[in-house]
Amino acid sequence: MTTAPDILSPEFAADPYSAYRTMRDEHPLIWFEPMQSYVISRYADVERAFKDPVFTSRNYDWQLEPVHGRTILQMDGREHSTHRNLVAPAFRGRDLMTRFVPVIEQNSRELIDAFAADGHVDLVRQYATRFPINVIVDMLGLPKADHEHFHRWYTAIMAFLSNLSGDEQATADGLRTKAEFEEYLLPIIRRRRDDPGDDLLSTLCSAEIDGVRMTDEEVKAFCSLLLTAGGETTDKAIASVMSNLVQHPEQLEAVRNDHSLVSAAFAETLRHSPPVHMIMRQPAEDVELSGGVVEAGKTVTCLIGAANRDPEKYADPDAFDIFRTDLDLGRAYTAGANHTAFCLGRHFCVGAMLAKTELETGIAQLLDAMQDIRFTDGAPPPEHGVFTRAPASLHLTFTPTA
Ligand code: HEM
Repeated sequence: MTTAPDILSPEFAADPYSAYRTMRDEHPLIWFEPMQSYVISRYADVERAFKDPVFTSRNYDWQLEPVHGRTILQMDGREHSTHRNLVAPAFRGRDLMTRFVPVIEQNSRELIDAFAADGHVDLVRQYATRFPINVIVDMLGLPKADHEHFHRWYTAIMAFLSNLSGDEQATADGLRTKAEFEEYLLPIIRRRRDDPGDDLLSTLCSAEIDGVRMTDEEVKAFCSLLLTAGGETTDKAIASVMSNLVQHPEQLEAVRNDHSLVSAAFAETLRHSPPVHMIMRQPAEDVELSGGVVEAGKTVTCLIGAANRDPEKYADPDAFDIFRTDLDLGRAYTAGANHTAFCLGRHFCVGAMLAKTELETGIAQLLDAMQDIRFTDGAPPPEHGVFTRAPASLHLTFTPTA
């Protein structure tokens, strides 16, 4: 038997997938001292941790509270379902399509128009890190002129949340951002309550269950969560879908010729190269998983990237194949999915349909604008990150569509 991989080592960051294989095969349950957490990697265990209510989300408070305040990610039980039901309808099918599809199409189009004639682009910097944030700002009904503020706040909150080394600057910037964001948004929330419009912020302000509305503080916390939950994840997904397709030219051409395949390319990317690799849970009582018992109150880190390549679940799991038949495309964007990239169960991603719509629109528009796409330096970009993961930059050269 090998020793369990060190998940904070440079070797792990360079290639987590071979470490995941070792963990699934030989160390399906490890105690990882530096993170004070158990770590699980098999699909069946990760699925159980997401679906079984004995696993709570309490352990998020220390990480999220300082920058977001209290959000549905940290809640459990009735508190969670009540708050989630206030916000979830705005992100569902028909409402999303009629109200927000034009916003999505326009934001993607504006960003693409800015580089389409150049014949080269860093798709991460010029497109992926902008598009989902701009969409959220517009959905909330906030001024377009504030896109830049949101981009800066989002970058500072992300640096705070991924600051494992205790960097003082990142901590200070994150806390200052929370204060700035509050100062900006709380007066707008008060005005929307008096004078609602046809935007997501007004919907959040007026949504109620049994006569109870969210407080100003709760609406603000949810908007802050949207920035990171909907921004970083979707920007990473865009970069990974494009990188995966350019690495597989025959699949790229299939998607180019039939845009309805974007949905399959996105779903397979979520399985093969998910944006979020680690999610934490905390069991309320002792639980038996593969490899032993997790005691009540201990943190469990669920390795999404490992579960999604479990050979018990998928044939040839390391292969990127948008035509694979063992990924349930009909349910890939629902809580009944058979991959774990959006989580499963109660905390299943509220924004999964929005992400799907953004990717379907964005990738189709990119492929329409860019012909003969190749990596500028001839090689696929390395993935970056351990908690979340994707290419840090994606330099592409292409022939502009005439
Ligand atoms: C929850 C992934 C896009 C909003 C989650 C969770 C995951 C996830 C893994 C579960 C977190 C946990 O339980 O700890 C993703 C991925 C996305 C994406 C991979 C894109 C590819 C979005 C978008 C939005 C969004 C576009 C909205 C703008 C949320 C919210 C939650 C959530 C509000 C909390 C749900 C709850 O706790 O009940 N997402 N997400 N996400 N996501 Fe997403």
